[in-house]
Amino acid sequence: MLSNRAGDSKRSSLHGHWSSRMAFILAVTGSAVGLGNIWKFPYIAGQNGGGAFVLVYLVCVIVIGMPVMMSEILIGRRGRRNPVATMELLGKEEGSSSHWRLVGTLGVLAGILILSYYSVIAGWTLAYVVKSASGVFVGASAEAVGENFASFVGDWRLVALCHTLFMGLAVFVVARGVERGLEQAVRFMVPALLFLMLVLLGYSINSGYFGEGVAFMFTPDFERLTWNSVLAALGQAFFTLSIGMGAIMAYGAYLPEETSITGASAAVVTADTAIAMLAGLAIFPLVFANNLDPADGPGLVFDTLPLAFGQMAGGVFFSTVFFVLLAFAAWTSAIGLMEPAVAWIVERFSKTRAQATVMTGSIIWLVGLGSVLSFNVLADLKFLAGTIFDNVDYLTSNIMLPLGGLLIVVFAGWVMCRNSTADELGGSGTLYKAWRLLARFIAPVGILFVLINAIK
Ligand code: TRP
Repeated sequence: MLSNRAGDSKRSSLHGHWSSRMAFILAVTGSAVGLGNIWKFPYIAGQNGGGAFVLVYLVCVIVIGMPVMMSEILIGRRGRRNPVATMELLGKEEGSSSHWRLVGTLGVLAGILILSYYSVIAGWTLAYVVKSASGVFVGASAEAVGENFASFVGDWRLVALCHTLFMGLAVFVVARGVERGLEQAVRFMVPALLFLMLVLLGYSINSGYFGEGVAFMFTPDFERLTWNSVLAALGQAFFTLSIGMGAIMAYGAYLPEETSITGASAAVVTADTAIAMLAGLAIFPLVFANNLDPADGPGLVFDTLPLAFGQMAGGVFFSTVFFVLLAFAAWTSAIGLMEPAVAWIVERFSKTRAQATVMTGSIIWLVGLGSVLSFNVLADLKFLAGTIFDNVDYLTSNIMLPLGGLLIVVFAGWVMCRNSTADELGGSGTLYKAWRLLARFIAPVGILFVLINAIK
């Protein structure tokens, strides 16, 4: 451990304190901000009735998401290895068991499964870059935009092609290990995305239905809240923050000793939540202005935003830029989703980074074909949670991530000794006590309670 620390402080002095801290925050923000904020949050909120769901989601982000993220970072920084090896090492070091490595394994699997369908949706955004630029949405009616989407996802070859293209892009970057270049991308992308969301928000405010949108999002109607919606809100909190699967642990492994974990977590959680809220505020007024259904499902963003851009001055430009940015946001997330699997394969099977990435990418691509077909050829094949896509999504967001998160906070709160966590979180003041209370009691009990009630 000591030699790790010495090595690390050398590294951070080379790059300078501020830039290392910034690089870390950018990498984590890049992984957090993605399709989860702009594509998933609005449609999940819509399917679960709006207000009450959003409230539960926000509570989950603060009370469970924040302590889990802090726990992941501190475990990662203490272990300084890939998530599987880190959990194994710390399990032994803290006098517990090496079986804690299974938390890492669960994360590797979750990352593979999530990316399998994430890449399909990211492929849709690639197609929408081309569609936007071609001007098909200019002045289009809600029906025309809706039909355009339906006929697009109905064509499995085209969807498979886009999925292949996106996986190719992800594999390319991860194999070359050029995450550094992506830092620059995130530095530009997140502010640009924020700006475009504000443009859309301006449009929504003028749509005449802004009040309806706000009311839908923020008036809680607890009658409509089922345990399954609460679980969906919890799952969405994990998904959007990239926590519960070791990705943040992997990033934490490269974090300089002196960086404040609490401060970095708070910055990421704030940026991520702000972008999701903006997406909802931009989309729901459009839904009501055009008589669309908020419970429309995964096509919601693709049915509403092109419509707004189509009516806007400079819409072709804004729409193209928007989908480019969304594809970028998905790209920076895809890298995080692959990282645990790639790092693990490199160490466990002594492969090169390129080999490990191509292997991982191929498996993910293959599994993703199930989600490609869920929107066309196999749309009627339904079991348990719905289509293949619905099942992979449900299993990962609603079960694997909360379970992973539960094990991570239990490990940080109960298995690691007080000295270890206080050391990482910088002292034993009020903030530390608050974290420990959340990590030991509130978060684990909350996650268990929701899981048990929703699944029984
Ligand atoms: N947070 C990402 C999004 O909102 C998706 C995601 C989930 C993720 N888990 C991750 C990204 C792990 C990177 C690493 O789109």
